[in-house]
Amino acid sequence: MLGRDARDRRERCKTGIEGLDNILNGGVPRGNTVLVTGSVGTGKTSLCLEFLVHGSNSNEPGLYVSVTEPCDKLLKNIIPYDFFDESLITDGKLHFIDLPIVYERLGLEKAEFDFEEVAILISAIASIVHELGIKRLVIDSITSVCYRLKSQENIRDFILKLGSVLSEMGCTSFLVSEISPAEERYSLYGVEEAIADGVIVTGNLERRGDLLRTLQVVKMRGTMHSRAKYVLDLTTVGVLLVPLLKGGSVAGGG
Ligand SMILES: Nc1ncnc2c1ncn2[C@@H]1O[C@H](COP(=O)(O)OP(=O)(O)OP(=O)(O)O)[C@@H](O)[C@H]1O
Ligand SMILES: [Mg+2]
Repeated sequence: MLGRDARDRRERCKTGIEGLDNILNGGVPRGNTVLVTGSVGTGKTSLCLEFLVHGSNSNEPGLYVSVTEPCDKLLKNIIPYDFFDESLITDGKLHFIDLPIVYERLGLEKAEFDFEEVAILISAIASIVHELGIKRLVIDSITSVCYRLKSQENIRDFILKLGSVLSEMGCTSFLVSEISPAEERYSLYGVEEAIADGVIVTGNLERRGDLLRTLQVVKMRGTMHSRAKYVLDLTTVGVLLVPLLKGGSVAGGG
């Protein structure tokens, strides 16, 4: 069995979000497929965009695959961020793709994909990643892709194969999963979290009449990490994470 140090020696993909890298003992083990899961408006997209932008600033080209929202609309939302520079896109370090357009080009027009169509989709994503030299990928959201895969078997197959192809290319991936606030599991179909190498949960916490955003790393293969709940603050300089102390108060806060 590997010792603690050996286990923690896996090369890291530093997210660039300081609080998250600290929670993860240096970053996400490179090549991991991470489920970023949470209910509406909890900061999933913002977190993923920041992960991509920091990567493209440090020679790790990023790709954001949008499924639910057209990329041009999404781009308008990230322009105000201090850490975002539009030249990342013009210089080819950061790419945005609408998955519905990819479906159309591949002739994947059915509401439900079969095994073969799943394979076509994986291979299309893999070629884009390969051609553009992508090292960080975000799919927002994987839940929307899963709607078309329907069966747990297809979903398992899709995430496993995609994860392994991406990992072989040294690409670290964040897959966004949408759940309702009351959900006891971390994904709609209940299989995504078991297959992913990591699960980061964003949520809401009501405190003195205010609705705070929270973040918790539930699992991350290949590293030791904190499992504590943090308060997630979305600011123009990016995601800030502050430990949530027992009893629900925020460290350093009132
Ligand atoms: N820089 C910012 N400062 C403060 N609030 C912000 C900032 N950026 C985004 N927000 C707010 O954060 C909220 C959620 O952000 P985000 O879109 O990242 O969450 P999400 O979990 O992806 O939501 P959805 O479920 O709609 O996809 C938005 O409602 C937006 O108003
Ligand atoms: Mg979102």
